[in-house]
Amino acid sequence: MVEKQKKPVTHFTINIPMLLFLALCMSQHPLLSHCQLDYNFYYKTCPLLEGIVRNGVWSAIMNDTRIAASILRLHFHDCIVNGCDASVLLDDTVDMTGEKNAGPNRNSLRGFEVIDNIKADVEKNCPSTVSCVDILTLAARDAVVLSGGSYWYVQLGRRDGTTANDQAANQQIPSPFEPLDNITAKFTSKGLDIKDVVLLSGAHTIGFAQCFTFKRRLFDFKGSGKPDPNLNSNLLQNLQSTCPSSDSTNSNKLAPLDPVTISKFDNVYYKNLLNNSGLLESDQALLIDPKTASMVDYYSKYPYMYTSDFGASMVKLSNVGILTGQNGQIRKKCRSVN
Ligand code: HEM
Ligand SMILES: *[C@@H]1O[C@H](CO)[C@@H](O)[C@H](O)[C@H]1NC(C)=O
Ligand SMILES: *[C@@H]1O[C@H](CO)[C@@H](O)[C@H](O)[C@H]1NC(C)=O
Ligand SMILES: *[C@@H]1O[C@H](CO)[C@@H](O)[C@H](O)[C@H]1NC(C)=O
Repeated sequence: MVEKQKKPVTHFTINIPMLLFLALCMSQHPLLSHCQLDYNFYYKTCPLLEGIVRNGVWSAIMNDTRIAASILRLHFHDCIVNGCDASVLLDDTVDMTGEKNAGPNRNSLRGFEVIDNIKADVEKNCPSTVSCVDILTLAARDAVVLSGGSYWYVQLGRRDGTTANDQAANQQIPSPFEPLDNITAKFTSKGLDIKDVVLLSGAHTIGFAQCFTFKRRLFDFKGSGKPDPNLNSNLLQNLQSTCPSSDSTNSNKLAPLDPVTISKFDNVYYKNLLNNSGLLESDQALLIDPKTASMVDYYSKYPYMYTSDFGASMVKLSNVGILTGQNGQIRKKCRSVN
């Protein structure tokens, strides 16, 4: 099991980068709001927080293994749209069409009830103290750990947004059908880079995708009348039987993103790409593009490097566009603003 999160040991040697970092952090620029986060943010106000979140994720996984993947994806879809602010958790209201029902999310995102249940437990212990976005950030980390993946320390103190935007979700969430350069542009606009695209796409080592997200690869790829040439022929046969072309009622049927180790968080995703067994076009694109192929090769060979680098990219992701200090609010319920 996982150790209780402790503040990592820091060695206080003053150096130029550190002075620069402190100066930047003290300037309170909005782009630097992650400087106001702290590993021990709720140490006094909600000491049981991390255990409550881990238990909630654990019992959800015991009931449904796939939920780990769903929670991780929830966190990504929260952060990539106007920053990590738990906006993805907000229900639509008469005045606001939120993100939940935006194209990439409707009938696709799962795990909202898990976050609701954890939030209810947290509220019982420490009312109006812990943000929904911090809960989701911790839950995503725990989902990876409990699936056999890496552990990373999560800084806390994010605050919840008060709006959600369906248009932003439609525009900012990457599509499996768009070129890698477009996906990379969406990441770089958030302060992430092409290495983060490769590392974070490795989250597709767990979870499932619906037929409609990859079906065009199976029969008539881009009007060629043939399947995608970059799709392993054994996998092609399996997928064609899961999603037969004759039948349009099966567009919601599921195929595993990593068919070799379906619910284990490992580097087999990258090994699959070398084998032309990436499920989505956007997965296999990482091997086709020479800018990313060498990274795919590297992470397929060095699982320990994948473990540590994935954690570092997740930390970057979970600090995108966050609200801290007096901004935003601590929602009482994750589905609605106070
Ligand atoms: C790089 C661009 C990405 C694209 C184009 C993409 C696209 C998709 C699509 C189409 C699905 C299947 C959805 C469905 O069929 O309902 C999916 C599932 C998933 N995605 Fe991504 N994704 C991307 C990046 C990420 C990132 C960065 C993460 C997390 C760090 C992530 C985590 C997941 C997980 C875990 C699932 C499975 C969810 C489940 O089984 O409930 N994805 N993604
Ligand atoms: C267990 O998982 C199923 C499938 O995801 C879900 O419908 C159900 O609500 C879950 N039950 C509990 C108690 O979480
Ligand atoms: C990719 O981005 C370019 C430039 O922004 C845009 O013109 C093009 O329509 C995008 N392609 C897709 C498939 O989204
Ligand atoms: C290569 O692809 C096949 C078909 O998807 C798969 O069963 C096999 O395990 C893959 N090999 C490796 C080394 O990943």
